[in-house]
Amino acid sequence: MSGLAAIEITRALRNTASVSVIAITTVLFATSLVSAASKNPCAPKKPAASNPLNPCAPGHIKAPDAAHKLNPKAAQKAYASLQKDMVVAFALSGDASAGKYQTWKRYNSAPYESTEHGDRYLNNYANKKAQAYIKYEKSGVMTLGSVLAKDSFTVLKNGQIYAGPLFLMEKMKKGFKPEFGDWKYVMYLPDGSFIGETNGEGDENVEYCGACHARVGKSQDHMFFLPKNYRVK
Ligand code: HEC
Repeated sequence: MSGLAAIEITRALRNTASVSVIAITTVLFATSLVSAASKNPCAPKKPAASNPLNPCAPGHIKAPDAAHKLNPKAAQKAYASLQKDMVVAFALSGDASAGKYQTWKRYNSAPYESTEHGDRYLNNYANKKAQAYIKYEKSGVMTLGSVLAKDSFTVLKNGQIYAGPLFLMEKMKKGFKPEFGDWKYVMYLPDGSFIGETNGEGDENVEYCGACHARVGKSQDHMFFLPKNYRVK
């Protein structure tokens, strides 16, 4: 909870109404999800289905009252207003990738809506070792140490913007998790709190990540890439 408190204070210091709203929203969602996660929200009898940030929900998590059809410029502007706070918050996790992914190459020209779950705007980043990502479907099998990062945010119908979770995939040594192509899936909430990682703590909370990504396991080394019209070259 110290992470939560820290980010709340940082944001409160900014002293603007809209930022406080974001902080409060984030903290409320995060708090309910963290307590839900410790009770294993993915247990079949207790699907935390009413929680909009339920990590067991399919895909990259649903958000309530999302506004759709922001044009690329507006989506970029919304993202820019959050980026610095996102980095500060994700860095609180202590995960090196979570603290610096925004210095990596971004592969989308503007934030785009998830093709499967159209209520969040997404960005895709990849570290240097993962530079083959630029070949998209022709990337082949990624090298050891490749890290792919996807951050997210939601714009509500009333104009409020708030950060969503950070999703990471890291290519591990051969044998780490063969059915997942040896990718480690990791997820953090917008306040930097940790939800789970493959073969580690909270493994059950990120199992669904690898299961869905395995649909393109053989053909694309478990990577889905992004809509063609948003790809950088
Ligand atoms: C129901 C399917 C599904 C689930 C579940 C899912 N993803 Fe994804 N993921 C996608 C799709 C589709 C994309 C491509 C971008 C998009 O349209 O959302 C993607 C893209 C990504 C990327 C960018 C790299 C790439 O090109 O594949 C990362 C990183 C990622 N997901 C991590 C995660 C993590 C971590 C979880 C679990 C917390 C997760 N995903 C759960 C379908 C899924």
